[in-house]
Amino acid sequence: MALHEIIILPDKRLRLVSEPVGKITAEIKKLVADMFETMYDAPGIGLAAIQIGVAQRVVTMDLAKKEEDAEPLVFINPEIVWSSEELGSYEEGCLSIPEYYEEVERPARVRAKYLDLDGNEHLIEADGLLATCLQHEIDHLNGVLFIDYISKLKRDRVTKKFAKVAKRAED
Ligand code: NI
Repeated sequence: MALHEIIILPDKRLRLVSEPVGKITAEIKKLVADMFETMYDAPGIGLAAIQIGVAQRVVTMDLAKKEEDAEPLVFINPEIVWSSEELGSYEEGCLSIPEYYEEVERPARVRAKYLDLDGNEHLIEADGLLATCLQHEIDHLNGVLFIDYISKLKRDRVTKKFAKVAKRAED
């Protein structure tokens, strides 16, 4: 396993549309292991492969609370197949937009299909934090960030702030 650097706003790779995974090869399994190591180290509750610069449709997640045992979840080629009309709201954050949190409204329940690491297809219905996290991470696979759902004023402000930090690091 290896720890990877998480790419940060305004890195253009965050806007890429990731490619579906074909066969689940040893390389994909290694990617997943690396993603877990990187996600737990951050620490974060969800990570999309593109956040370590790999444009493949792979998501890792662990929503277990600190005092609970780890509950690693892997979603290969995840896809939302149904969303509720009812909305729910969470204060979201993102490892690629560190230390920035905003309230985001999304469908409260979703159904998603995905493959596990053995290539078996699953269909789950999610609500609460899992529903939010699934939508947030699947958005990453499509080059969408949670700040795309907040007001333009707030989005411009946070985008500028991160651009400035990136520029300062460059100089
Ligand atoms: Ni994120």
